[in-house]
Amino acid sequence: MCGIIGYIGNKKAEPILINGLLRLEYRGYDSAGISTIEKNGLKTIKNKGRVSELEKVSGINDLTGTIGIGHTRWATHGKPSSTNSHPHMDNSKKFAVVHNGIIENYADLKDFLKSQNYTFLSETDTEVIPNLIHYYYQTSKNTGSKKLLEAVSNTIKMLKGSYALEILCSDFPDNMIVVRKDSPLVIGKGLNENYISSDIPAILSFTKDFYLLNDNELAFISRDSIEFYDSNLNKIEKIPQNITWNAGAAEKNGYPDFMLKEINEQPMAIRETIGSRITSNSKSIIPDLDGLNKSYLSSINKISIVACGTAMHAGLAGKTLFETLCEIPVEVEAASEFRYRNPLINEKTLCIFISQSGETADTIAALKLAKSKGSKTLAISNVIGSSISREADFTIYTHAGPEIAVASTKAYTSQIVLLAIIAINFAEKLNLNKEKLEELKKDILLLPSQLEEILGNIQNIKNFAQKIYKEKDIFFIGRGIDYTVALEGSLKLKEISYIHSEAYPSGELKHGPIALIENDVTVISILTNRLLVEKSISNIQEVVTRGAKTFIVTNQELNHKFDEVIQIPKTNTLISPVLSIVPLQLLSYYISKEKGLDVDKPRNLAKSVTVE
Ligand code: M6R
Repeated sequence: MCGIIGYIGNKKAEPILINGLLRLEYRGYDSAGISTIEKNGLKTIKNKGRVSELEKVSGINDLTGTIGIGHTRWATHGKPSSTNSHPHMDNSKKFAVVHNGIIENYADLKDFLKSQNYTFLSETDTEVIPNLIHYYYQTSKNTGSKKLLEAVSNTIKMLKGSYALEILCSDFPDNMIVVRKDSPLVIGKGLNENYISSDIPAILSFTKDFYLLNDNELAFISRDSIEFYDSNLNKIEKIPQNITWNAGAAEKNGYPDFMLKEINEQPMAIRETIGSRITSNSKSIIPDLDGLNKSYLSSINKISIVACGTAMHAGLAGKTLFETLCEIPVEVEAASEFRYRNPLINEKTLCIFISQSGETADTIAALKLAKSKGSKTLAISNVIGSSISREADFTIYTHAGPEIAVASTKAYTSQIVLLAIIAINFAEKLNLNKEKLEELKKDILLLPSQLEEILGNIQNIKNFAQKIYKEKDIFFIGRGIDYTVALEGSLKLKEISYIHSEAYPSGELKHGPIALIENDVTVISILTNRLLVEKSISNIQEVVTRGAKTFIVTNQELNHKFDEVIQIPKTNTLISPVLSIVPLQLLSYYISKEKGLDVDKPRNLAKSVTVE
């Protein structure tokens, strides 16, 4: 939620900031703004609406400063408006600040500052920050950069909540200070220039060397140097990490939207995620999991999988994988529930946290809770060095490449493949289900080419999207692992087409939801389990009898006539969601396009939910 960008170098900052904001806009698009250090001091231009609106504000191209900060907002405190847009300044206009996160105690801080005669223009939580910095700056006995560092350090000691902050001070026209806690921020190192961003892809075309900050570490940045400090202002050393993603991965590369590009990248994402972790006829090789050995795995009483949204749906597929292959009971829970209900976990529980971004606030909080209860924690993330990966005892990465569209697609399928590989690794260590594992490995290795086959044959999906895009309600049904795909298909449809939809286990229909089925309602059914075909067909017939239109995704031969049947290749039921979700991703995509919506940036949503 919210994207922040910064530049310090010898080039004009404004176009670099605007370009970065356009790339970060998927994190929030309620308003945008930038501040640069000009010859005559700090200059701020901000506006309600998207970055394209900011670009039109008169005077923005006249900014010549070579140091600047920028922000694209997903509104939390205060409605979208120009005044509530970032950057925010203190009363004296000496400091400009952009912020991603939430300051939970902002009301108390505001009262304190008001008692010191500070006044406020906006309704935001952020505006207390530049004013607090000013307060401590004024009262500091230090001089030079120490004075500024001390003011920032004292300020963050007062803040409760989450923040990634970029701070400019007109007394330091050649520097910028950044600091983070529970919100993402990376520093890209260039030659006599440095870049700051909420995520790596936004600045990947400028550098591949990145510094990552731990909570409450500060960086004092110049054009040609970066000094790092811990929260007590002791100097610390950091080594940049080299990121192997190529810059093209963050571009649309000829696709009209990131979502369509990312759907089509799934064969590659799966190939990369498999890598050399599994090959047929030999044991899996996952050095990252060596610490979870036979004696540990034999001692655990359950696995808890915790995640949000699509990542949680991948976790539901993971449950079947671990229970079937490793014979360990598995619970799957939304992080936002898990963190507040005192879950029954202990040192005998392995907790797995799945997060594409690795920055989801609820998932990070749930992970911290699990650690506090003595559980071992394993993170699955797509972003190297993300917060979740730094918190967890073990981390294993999907290699899906940057996922930029708000609707998650390739992350989901890569997460399921990685869960399957982890389950295989655990089962091998436990000497369980040898034959099943061999078959499953072969099937996993076939997935990329099977995905290519599905993606090469999409006309019927497009046609069906044209038929149903005006509908108000759509239902998804499935049994077993197909039900988990129904949940994900329904989420995809809701978030990018704004059509109300529900997912039910097929067998639950008669317990209530079938009352909603009337003439012409669309029911989408996923049917990949040979053992459940007949039962599922009966459920579909029951809705057809009541007038429903049917869209079926299956790898079975069906002897019945339905409105649209999308055949997908056969695979092991345990990993069937990797294939069966793809027609549903495409259906949602084409429905959204038919409706003329912004597929990549659906309303009210942001890619990374860094606030709870
Ligand atoms: O980055 P994460 O995997 O932690 O994100 C979790 C959810 O916010 C995310 O999957 C969300 O549900 C997507 N917009 C769904 O498409």
